[in-house]
Amino acid sequence: MGDGEDSFDPSRRNFLKIVAIASVGVAAVGILKGGISNLIAPTVGLSAFPSLTIYDTSGKPLTYENLPLSSAQVVTFEYPLQDDPSFLINLGDSSGKPLDITTPPKPKSALTGTTYTYPTGVGPTGSQSVVAFSAICQHAGCVPPSIKYYPPNTEIPNVFSASQNKLGLIHCSCHGSTYDPTSGASIVTGPTQNPLPGVFLKYDPTTHEFAAYKMTGPTIFGRQSDLTGGSPLSTNYTEIKVG
Ligand code: FES
Repeated sequence: MGDGEDSFDPSRRNFLKIVAIASVGVAAVGILKGGISNLIAPTVGLSAFPSLTIYDTSGKPLTYENLPLSSAQVVTFEYPLQDDPSFLINLGDSSGKPLDITTPPKPKSALTGTTYTYPTGVGPTGSQSVVAFSAICQHAGCVPPSIKYYPPNTEIPNVFSASQNKLGLIHCSCHGSTYDPTSGASIVTGPTQNPLPGVFLKYDPTTHEFAAYKMTGPTIFGRQSDLTGGSPLSTNYTEIKVG
């Protein structure tokens, strides 16, 4: 007999067996846990839309005067949950004046054929030009800067010339969807089948500040509900991001 057989110890063999079974058991528990945690939907979310004052990048409430008109800069804020980018756009006309949106637009879903009412723009009297929409494309979920606002008289490469883009458009370069922010982010070109979800804004004529308080239209892309599937903001305000 060799040395190995001489040193054979049946009790050690049993010990190894037990260790092996225990390891399999631990692995099974791990798989089970993983399976369970995938089955249980995240409990985070909200029961109602929050009302959040919109702050600027210096940590103060954003005022109408500080929101550039017809800007190609992407200005977004998180709403209604963390990491939900929403556009904030101060619409201007082709001559550089605020574009008053005083008739509530009625965007239509190409998917369901249904329409809904988007609110008017907000801002000082005669300049109800500020609008807000989800900045997540309804076609396949692209986010800024792939989807962005092109002010009036600017070219959207390979899609619209500067002269064709008369009042400003939101365009997603991922697959070419275009939305009209002057009519509630309704569909201009596919492949999107849905307008961008709208965010309702309040404007305070005394302080000139804005708050976001509700959404309308289709749910945010990829979500069953705008209010679940993410974490609420931990403050009663939401800050703009300029990029
Ligand atoms: S994700 Fe925007 S067009 Fe496809």
